[in-house]
Amino acid sequence: SKGGFDCFMAKEIHEQPEGIKNTLERRLDESGKIVLDSIKMKKEDLEKINKIYIVACGTAYHAGLLGKKALEAFLNVPVITDIASEFRYNDNFVDENSLVILVSQSGETADTLAVLRDSKAKGARILAVTNVVGSSIAREADDVFYTWAGPEIAVASTKAYTTQIVSLYMIALNFALEKGSIKEDYYMYMIEKMKTLPEGVQSILDNQDKIKEIAQKIVDKEHAFFLGRGIDYALAMEGSLKLKEVSYIHAEAFAAGELKHGTIALIEEGTPVISIATQEKLFEKMVSNMQEVTARGAYVVAIAQEHNKGVEKVADDVIYIPNSDDMLSPVMAVVPMQLLSYYVSTLRGLDVDKPRNLAKSVTVE
Ligand code: F6R
Repeated sequence: SKGGFDCFMAKEIHEQPEGIKNTLERRLDESGKIVLDSIKMKKEDLEKINKIYIVACGTAYHAGLLGKKALEAFLNVPVITDIASEFRYNDNFVDENSLVILVSQSGETADTLAVLRDSKAKGARILAVTNVVGSSIAREADDVFYTWAGPEIAVASTKAYTTQIVSLYMIALNFALEKGSIKEDYYMYMIEKMKTLPEGVQSILDNQDKIKEIAQKIVDKEHAFFLGRGIDYALAMEGSLKLKEVSYIHAEAFAAGELKHGTIALIEEGTPVISIATQEKLFEKMVSNMQEVTARGAYVVAIAQEHNKGVEKVADDVIYIPNSDDMLSPVMAVVPMQLLSYYVSTLRGLDVDKPRNLAKSVTVE
C-alpha cells in the first residue's frame, strides 16, 4: 500500500530516514562500531587486493561513483567505477587480486550479473551491495552487504540510492580501519556524523514548499541542466536521471568546470540550471560557474549547505540542506532533487511510478 501517499515514489522518498537508520544503526555493536555481518573478507584478503572496481547500472552506478570517493579517501587507493554494460565489453584488467563491488537494488540486472560472473571466472573477489535478499547477484557473490531500504516499488530509484551510498561508506570505513589507513577517532567521528543523516533528510522532507514552487517554474521547460563539481558532479548525474525518467524533461549533468568547453552554448533565457554546491572546498568555484550561467539568462536553482548564504547572490532560488561533512552531503542533497522530479511529474499529469518505456528490473541486456 502507498501508506497515504499518492504514489510509491513519494512514499519511498519519505521512507529514507528510516531506511538509512536501519542500514546503519542496526549494524552498530555495543562499542558503536559497524559490523559488516555477511562480509567475510579478512585482513589478509584485503591485503591481497591491489585493484578495486565498482560496477553497476543507472542510479546504482551513481551511488558507485560516491562509493569510489569514499574508498579512495579512506583507503588511499585508486578505485575504478564503471557502467556494467560498458565494463563487460572493455579490457578491464580484472584478476585474482581484484575486488569487484557490484551495486544493484534488484540484484537481477542482466549486465551487472554478467560482470559478476565474468569477474568471478577471472578469480576476483566479488562483493555485492543489494537490496533483495536471495537475488541472483546476492547468491553468486562471495560477500553480500544488504541495504535495508525495504522493498522499492516505484521504477525511479530513491531510497535504494541513499542506502547504497551509506552502505558503501560503511564498507569503506571498515576496510580502512582494518587496513589501518584511517585512525579510530576519524572512524568514530564519521559514524557519529552518519547517525545524523536520518534527521537531516527528515528536515528536508519537512520543508517542501520551496521545492514545490521551483517545480512550478520548470514544469513547462523542455531542457534542464545539473551542474556540480567532484562529489556534487556525481550527484548532478543522479538529479538529471531522476528528472528525465519521471518528468520526460531533457536533463543533462555537467561537470561545472567543463561548461566553457562547449556546453555553455546551450544556456539561454530561462534555462533551468540546478547547481549543486555542497562541497566546501569547491564552493567558490561553483559560485563562479553560477555567475557565468546567470549572466547568460539561466534560471539558477542552487543546492547548498545552510551556512553558505552567500549563494543567494548568484542563484534565483536556493534549497538549503543542513550543514554537513562534504562526503556525507549527497545523502541529503539528493532529496530535494528527488522531490523536484516527483512534483514536476505530478504537475505534468504523468504516471510517476511507471514512466513510459521503463521496467523496474532490467533482466535483459
Ligand atoms: C533509475 C533506476 C535505474 C536502476 C538501474 C539498476 O531510477 O532505477 O537506473 O538504478 O536499472 O537497477 P538495479 O539497481 O536493480 O541493478
